[in-house]
This record gives sequence, structure tokens and C-alpha cells, in this order.
Amino acid sequence: MYKEENLDKKIIDENRQGEVFYEVDKENKKEGKKIYIESYGCQMNFNDSEIVAAIMREEGYSTTKNIEDADLVFVNTCSIRDKAEQTVLRRLTEFKSLKKQNKNLKVGVLGCMAERLKEEFLENEVVDLVVGPDAYRSLPELVDWAKHGNKGINVHLSKEETYDDISPVRLDDNGISAFISITRGCNNMCSFCVVPYTRGRERSRNAFSIVAEAADVFDKGYREVTLLGQNVDSYLWENPETGEKVSFAKLLEMVAMVNPLLRVRFATSHPKDMTDEVIYTMAAHDNICKYIHLPVQSGNSRILELMNRTYTREWYIDRINKIYEIIPDIAISSDVIAGFCTETEEDHQDTLSIMKYANYSMSYMFYYSERPRTVAQRKYKDDIPLEVKKRRLNEIIRLQNQISYNHNKNDIGKVFEVLIEGNSKKSDKEFKGRNSQNKVIIFPKKDGLNKGDYVFVKVNDANSATLRGEITDQNVTTQVGCF
Ligand code: SAH
Ligand code: SF4
Ligand code: F3S
Repeated sequence: MYKEENLDKKIIDENRQGEVFYEVDKENKKEGKKIYIESYGCQMNFNDSEIVAAIMREEGYSTTKNIEDADLVFVNTCSIRDKAEQTVLRRLTEFKSLKKQNKNLKVGVLGCMAERLKEEFLENEVVDLVVGPDAYRSLPELVDWAKHGNKGINVHLSKEETYDDISPVRLDDNGISAFISITRGCNNMCSFCVVPYTRGRERSRNAFSIVAEAADVFDKGYREVTLLGQNVDSYLWENPETGEKVSFAKLLEMVAMVNPLLRVRFATSHPKDMTDEVIYTMAAHDNICKYIHLPVQSGNSRILELMNRTYTREWYIDRINKIYEIIPDIAISSDVIAGFCTETEEDHQDTLSIMKYANYSMSYMFYYSERPRTVAQRKYKDDIPLEVKKRRLNEIIRLQNQISYNHNKNDIGKVFEVLIEGNSKKSDKEFKGRNSQNKVIIFPKKDGLNKGDYVFVKVNDANSATLRGEITDQNVTTQVGCF
């Protein structure tokens, strides 16, 4: 059943992945066991932690926010940049003292770093389990194994696994916004990116299970779902019974139809796959939020080619033009990488100028971090000195702050439909919510309103990160909301 390399390691046979092939010791399945899950990386990884929590709940584990109470600690890791990995490695050393206090405590490393480093992690004295993103169904078995004093690993990547039958246990959420994964993996092979190696081939989840999950969270009181994938636009699911194909545009529509009071968001869109059909579908449904995260990475066509992004500056600008033409009140955000291999000052200027052109409401900005095994690592020299990368990144950040500030200032006087998410961080006399464009708005409370309600808010102040406003009646001139 397993390939056992030595007695204290268990490696699950790759071919058995996904099948029910092991009866977990039912005697051990007593209630009251606690699991602490710490997550790093993207929203998909956080959503995976919710799937893991659901799998472990079946084994009698409930989640705890207090690590000292835990019988089991899972660290769901990210490999996207070296910094992300260093943070996890430091964190693992902190678990040493916890294990000294609680001899029965077991520690599992999950997620992208588990997939990337595989057996290497088992050398780490703190780590009992190493489980990759497609192998979470084997967690109960591996945990059981670890409880008997062994180390276990399963890093098999699957071509089919979508966990579509598992209803995630929502962790750390506000009860209003839920995340639903619609694809796993990525087929794009951007030359800088580790994700295809840690997450495997792209696969799309059954459309009906996605719609059912959206309907279920709506019934539970959630009012917003975000459909997640590394490249949502390439979602394509074929109904095995009818042969009918469901594209991303179609899926968006199906989820939007669940209820007009359910807001629909999605991330991430890839510029090469962002179709007009998706833009028109967004425009046609008030509850599909008017916000697109469309990472540009670089504004220079030569660098984009080296990055293997498969679009040019001109193509990207055409997408931006089309989006603003069809949905003028939309907000667009981006990811930007500074100092990719061979990037010149002129190339860097192209990135700055495309950021201005696109008028991003916000961006996630990074300097290039070389990742093992990627095409860039194998073929190109990481030749931009760190100080130059950092200086360019600072210029990018400074510019984005300015653009965001102007973007937000431009909202002063406008009225937006806002979904209330809860109290603002600073005061329980204020609510925090978001408009359709994904901007956070803070405003004084009014009696009778609760989180999950929609209100109209008139913006009267703004900085580069947040809008402030007050609740107003609907009869105001410029209404740029979701409904
Ligand atoms: N699938 C998404 C992004 C996933 S990773 C997309 O294609 O847009 C999130 C972001 O991390 C990327 O958009 C990129 O900007 C950044 N990133 C990825 N690899 C990186 C690396 N090696 N160095 C620096 N930033 C990186
Ligand atoms: Fe990475 Fe590119 Fe895939 Fe995004 S699209 S996850 S950047 S390979
Ligand atoms: Fe990180 Fe893996 Fe997500 S590398 S960004 S956790 S897909």
C-alpha cells in the first residue's frame, strides 16, 4: 500500500491518491481534539486551509485560535518569494519550545513549500508531516501515523483533485465574505513563477458544485463570494453528462443568478485570457462587482516576453481600454514586479507609465525574487542589483500611492452602495464596508443596521487607502454602486 523508505517515514503510493484506501483508527476518533492552522500566501491557500479544517473536522478536530491549546499545528505555506519561505522557516523554529511543553504535539507543513521542498522538510526535527496542496484527503491517515511517532509525507500532485465535494469550514472570516476556489493549479508557466511547480496542472471545478456552494453560503448569511483561481478566465468545465462546456463568463452568470443580494467577485484575471464576454457579463449583472484585478507585471513588451506572460504592452492597453469603455465606473488593480532579469531604466519607466495609463486603484508590488527550478532561474541571470530593485520598487510604490490617492479623491461627493462588513478597526461607533469597486469605506453607524446590510454612503473624505463617508438617502446624483 505504501512505499516505505524506512520505518519512520511513510510515503503514500501516488497512484492511490484520491481513493478511500485507509480506514483511520476509529478508536482514536474521539471529540475534543484541537487543531491550530496558520496560513501564508494567496487567498487560494487560505481557502485550502478551510478545506483542511473541514477534512480534519470529520476526524473530530475543531479549530482553535490559541496555539497553546492545540494537539496539532498545521502551517500552510507559500513559496512565491524567498521572503515568504524565510518567514515560515523562522516560524518553525519557534515551534520547538511548544513541542517541549507538549510532547504529544504534532506539526505539519502543508501547501506550496511542502510541495517544493518535499522530503527536505522531514530532516527538520520540528516537522512530523509534509503534505502538498493536492494531498489533503490523506491528512487523517498521515496524522494518525504521526501520532504513533512516525513522520509522513504525501506531495503527490493530481490532475483531477478539486475538493469539490468538501464544504470548507470558514476560518477567520467576517460571516459576510466567502471565498470559493473554482480552479486549481496553473498552466501558464510565467518564467518567474513557482506556482506551476507547487500547484501542478490547471483543473476546473464542477460548475454545479460552485453554484451550490455559493447558494449555501448565501443561506448562511454571507453576502459576497469571491471566485478564486490563478487564472479565472481560463476556467472551463465540461459537463460529463451533457458535454456542455461552461466558460468563466457563463459561470459568473450562474453564480450571479444565485441571488441579486449576493455580490460576486473574482481573482485573478490574466490579461491574455480576459475576454470581452467576461466584461459584458460583468456589465449585465449589477451584483457582479465592478472591480478587476488584472496584474500587468511589467509595462515593457520585451520584459513581458522574457516573463512569458504571452501579451504585449499594446495588448494590455487594449484590454484596459475595452474594460473602461464597457464599464466606465470600474476599478482595476494590478501586481507589479520591479527589477526582473535584464530590466533597464527605460523598461522600468514603461512600467511606471502603464501604471499611470491604467489608473490602478491599487497594486501589489514586489521586487523580483529568483525561484528555484523556474525558467528564469534556469535560463536568465538575476542581474539587477538588490539596491536597484529596491529603488525601482520604491518608485513604483510612491507612484501607486499617488495614483490611489487621486483615484480615491475623485470619489469624494459620490454615493456608493456599500456592503457592511462589521465594525471599523478603530471604533465600534463606525462601520466598515466595501463598495462594488472594492474600496474600503468607513462611516458612522445608524440604528437598525447590521453587517450584511447594504447602505448608500456618500464619500466626504479620502486618503490613499480608505474612503470615509456618511449614510445617505438614495436620491443623490451620482450613484456608482453595485445595485
Ligand atoms: N496568478 C496570478 C498571480 C499569482 S502570484 C497572476 O498570474 O497574476 C501573485 C503575484 O506575485 C504575481 O502576480 C507576481 O506579481 C508576484 N510574483 C510571482 N512570482 C514572483 C517572483 N519570483 N518574484 C517577485 N514577485 C513574484
Ligand atoms: Fe504564476 Fe503566471 Fe500562473 Fe500567475 S499565471 S500563477 S504568475 S505562472
Ligand atoms: Fe504562494 Fe502557493 Fe499561493 S506559492 S501565492 S501559496 S499558490
